Parts: sequence; C-alpha cells; structure tokens
Amino acid sequence: MKIRPAQISDEVAVTDIFLDVLREGETFALPRDSTRKDAREFWFAEGNHVYVCEDEDKICGSYYIRANQDGGGAHVANAGYIVDESARGKGIGRAMAEHSLGESKTRGFRAMQFNFVISTNEAAVKLWRDLGFEAVGTLPEAFQHPTRGFVDALVMFRKL
Ligand SMILES: CC(C)(COP(=O)(O)OP(=O)(O)OC[C@H]1O[C@@H](n2cnc3c(N)ncnc32)[C@H](O)[C@@H]1OP(=O)(O)O)[C@@H](O)C(=O)NCCC(=O)NCCS
Repeated sequence: MKIRPAQISDEVAVTDIFLDVLREGETFALPRDSTRKDAREFWFAEGNHVYVCEDEDKICGSYYIRANQDGGGAHVANAGYIVDESARGKGIGRAMAEHSLGESKTRGFRAMQFNFVISTNEAAVKLWRDLGFEAVGTLPEAFQHPTRGFVDALVMFRKL
C-alpha cells in the first residue's frame, strides 16, 4: 500500500469512489445525486492538496487537506477521506489519516478540524478519537441520514 500525491490520471478513479460514497448519503453533507462533475470539482477544488492510496496499482482511497478558513483561520487544516467500499476495514483509512496529520504539519498547519462528522459514522468517529481528536461540539440533529433520520453531527479538533 502506497500513499502519494494525486496526479491528473487519478481523477477518474478517485471520483468513482467519491460518487459511491455520496450515493450512500451517510457521511458527507452533499447531494446523493451529485454529478461526476460536482464530485470531481469538490474533491479537487482549488486549494485542496489531494493524495491517493494505491494498492497493487489500484486506487483504493483518497484524502484531501486544505485550510479550514482563510486569513486568521488559515493555520487550521481541514480534511476529507474516502476508502473504496470493497477496501474498508483493512487499515487504509487509518494509514491515510496518519499520513494526513504528517503532511498537514509539514505544510505548516498547527491544528486540524473536522467540521461535520456524522455521529452515526462509527468507523470515522472511532478513528478520529483514536488519533487524538476531541469532539468540541455537537450539532443536534444537523444531518438527515437516509435510514436513521435526523442525527447529530460533531465538530472534531486536534492540535498538530
Ligand atoms: C471512514 C473511512 C475513511 C475509514 O476507512 P477504513 O479503511 O475502513 O478504516 P480502517 O480500516 O483504517 O479502520 C479504522 C478503525 O475503525 C474501525 N472500524 C471500521 N469500521 C467500523 C465500524 N463499522 N464500526 C466501528 N468501528 C469500525 C476499525 O476497527 C479501525 O479501528 P482499529 O484500527 O482499532 O481496528 C471509510 O469507512 C469510508 O470511506 N467511509 C465513507 C466516507 C467517510 O465516512 N469519510 C469520513 C468522513 S468524516
């Protein structure tokens, strides 16, 4: 398994994974019927530093880091992570998250913030807590889950 900066040639594979995640509708506050163009523009937006995880020449996950705010808030990073459904539960998410903390620090960020972690996303919440993130706030019933109704979203933060 290798984690490296994304290249233009990775865009299709990454967008495929992200579109599947959006269709699930359980983890990102974006429309489930987002188009390929919407998904690509979100993940590869200007200012995003995108990385991929490659396993035996196949892209199995991706993450981006970016500044969470501009100006006086630009020293806090924000990030997003996706792992192909068939590759989940094998440590790829953890490996990418650890990699992203190192990259963020190298890029001069002083902290990382997740703005909207869906409380029902057990794998993500466990992983972020394991890596030292603290839930600094709960947004009550801020997310409409496709099967579980209105559920809380967490703001999670850690210094780097
Ligand atoms: C969240 C996500 C990136 C995690 O990736 P992954 O490769 O499956 O994660 P890992 O295999 O590294 O597992 C991370 C930890 O979560 C645990 N975990 C995995 N699935 C779990 C589940 N359904 N319930 C509880 N814990 C779970 C694992 O046991 C592991 O802990 P461990 O290392 O102590 O064993 C992946 O599930 C995903 O892409 N989900 C959809 C998009 C998403 O939610 N992105 C994050 C938004 S905040």
